[in-house]
Amino acid sequence: MHQQTNEPWWKKAVVYQIYPKSFLDTTGSGTGDINGVTKKLDYIRELGADCIWLTPMYESPQYDNGYDISNYKKLHEMYGTMADFEHMLKEAHKRGIRVIMDIAVNHTSIFHEWFQASRESKENPYRDFYIWKEPKEDGSPPNDWQSKFGGPAWERDEATGDYYLHLYDVTQADLNWENEKVRKQVYDIMHFWFEKGIDGFRLDVINNISKDQRFLDDAGQSVQGDGRMYYTDGPRIHEFLHEMHQEVFAKYDSMTVGEMSSTNIADCIRYTRPDRKELDMTFNFHHLKVDYPNGEKWAIAPFDFLALKSILSEWQTKMHEGGGWNALFWCNHDQPRIVSRYGDDGTYHKQSAKMLATTIHLMQGTPYIYQGEEIGMKNPTFRDMTSYRDVESFNMYEVMLKKGKTEEEALAILQAKSRDNARTPMQWTSEKNGGFSTGTPWIEPADNDLTVESSLKDPKSIFYHYQALCRLRKEYDVITYGSFTLLLPDDPKIFAYIREGENEKLLVINHFYAGEAKWSLPDELKQAVEEMNHHVLLSNYDDVPKEIKAFTLRPYESIVYHLTKR
Ligand code: NOJ
Repeated sequence: MHQQTNEPWWKKAVVYQIYPKSFLDTTGSGTGDINGVTKKLDYIRELGADCIWLTPMYESPQYDNGYDISNYKKLHEMYGTMADFEHMLKEAHKRGIRVIMDIAVNHTSIFHEWFQASRESKENPYRDFYIWKEPKEDGSPPNDWQSKFGGPAWERDEATGDYYLHLYDVTQADLNWENEKVRKQVYDIMHFWFEKGIDGFRLDVINNISKDQRFLDDAGQSVQGDGRMYYTDGPRIHEFLHEMHQEVFAKYDSMTVGEMSSTNIADCIRYTRPDRKELDMTFNFHHLKVDYPNGEKWAIAPFDFLALKSILSEWQTKMHEGGGWNALFWCNHDQPRIVSRYGDDGTYHKQSAKMLATTIHLMQGTPYIYQGEEIGMKNPTFRDMTSYRDVESFNMYEVMLKKGKTEEEALAILQAKSRDNARTPMQWTSEKNGGFSTGTPWIEPADNDLTVESSLKDPKSIFYHYQALCRLRKEYDVITYGSFTLLLPDDPKIFAYIREGENEKLLVINHFYAGEAKWSLPDELKQAVEEMNHHVLLSNYDDVPKEIKAFTLRPYESIVYHLTKR
């Protein structure tokens, strides 16, 4: 096994993601708050997470639920005060829980004072903080790039007649990272929060910050036609992140995770290889696009299981070989609930939720658990557009209608794909609103009776399976350091892999469907099984097969064997 002393703490950590707006409301306002987070730190500790990631709580007009920041050094008042935040930080640290903030610096809100100044005139000193371009001769936008939330990525502004770039919502103007003053301001903001004692950052869509300065048309080159090849992992991205590391991260015992939109493995190795001094780990989304038929998110299709296996295993093996580090996850505040997506949220709810957890947690990288995932929270299936809150959902609903979908069809797609699927209130108890709020929640709770309260009382709950996974990561080095090999790549139902350390191996067998599947030990493992002792480390049924060599897997069955040298 590789050298393990002086290893950074986050290699053996599990991160718990909190979407504060939907976590716990302590005031009756209908919106979760910082004190709600503080109240649940013991719960998070009990689960076994070592770190929390809080999605943005800065001052913001909330067009994109806080990813549109208008003041990076202030907290939005609905979440509480700076004193509440400092108290939460202290209480987290007391319990050995680290705290990661989320920062969106690809763009700011158009209500940020920098943008307000910038839009005033072409001569304003803040003009160059953003990406302003003159219209084409016919008055149309400078190029054909499209916003990721639908419609053109350029908005014409009255004051000067120029367009500003917004890769996301029209209220989220892209910052101009070519401008050194912008970069210095960002580093200053990061220092401000590190000085308060936080332990790191999750960096929102950070691989979009360096734009190709030619601003050429996509002209149909990308499948999406949105211009992404001109700003994804852009020309100066590694230079910017290295500078950020030197100016900020190098000065603290920090953890950084970059959210990487439409990225690739080679760049993610560069972002995370320790000697390059950029970031610690990266999120990528390729394994969550296997249910996008022809790359189209806003369509319904069964997920492509063989593609899922090959994508995850390619990232596993190549990041391992290249010395990079993966953030492992199924869920976050932008993704539909995994049990409703690649699992079964009906008959096999428990089995499939546990199986999915095992599949991702026993890979190499740092696993993330998104609030509610640990109790198997499901998509809410909103019946009406009035239940939705997300800007992307509204925009895409309009786009779908324009493209000829009926209202029913568009709603059915949102039920499966909307980001609001992940944003319904955390279900704590059987009380009103699942114990989330005594007021009127900002978004409707899902209509089901899954709760933390009942999960904690049931020793066989999904919660305790996640707890076991957190514990195993601490106990077995092979989970952190072992190599990864996919087994049975063409099997249409079983996702099996082997993790190998010096004197131990993990054999992880996951059945992804209802019905049965036949397991038989692949040839390449026969000798190891002859020569090594094995025992079952984790499973999701009460009894386990007697024989490792061949057996029938039950619906969504998951079994993990630990093999050790005799
Ligand atoms: C990714 C965030 O996770 C998402 O919620 C947000 O809308 C976009 N970045 C834009 O900031």
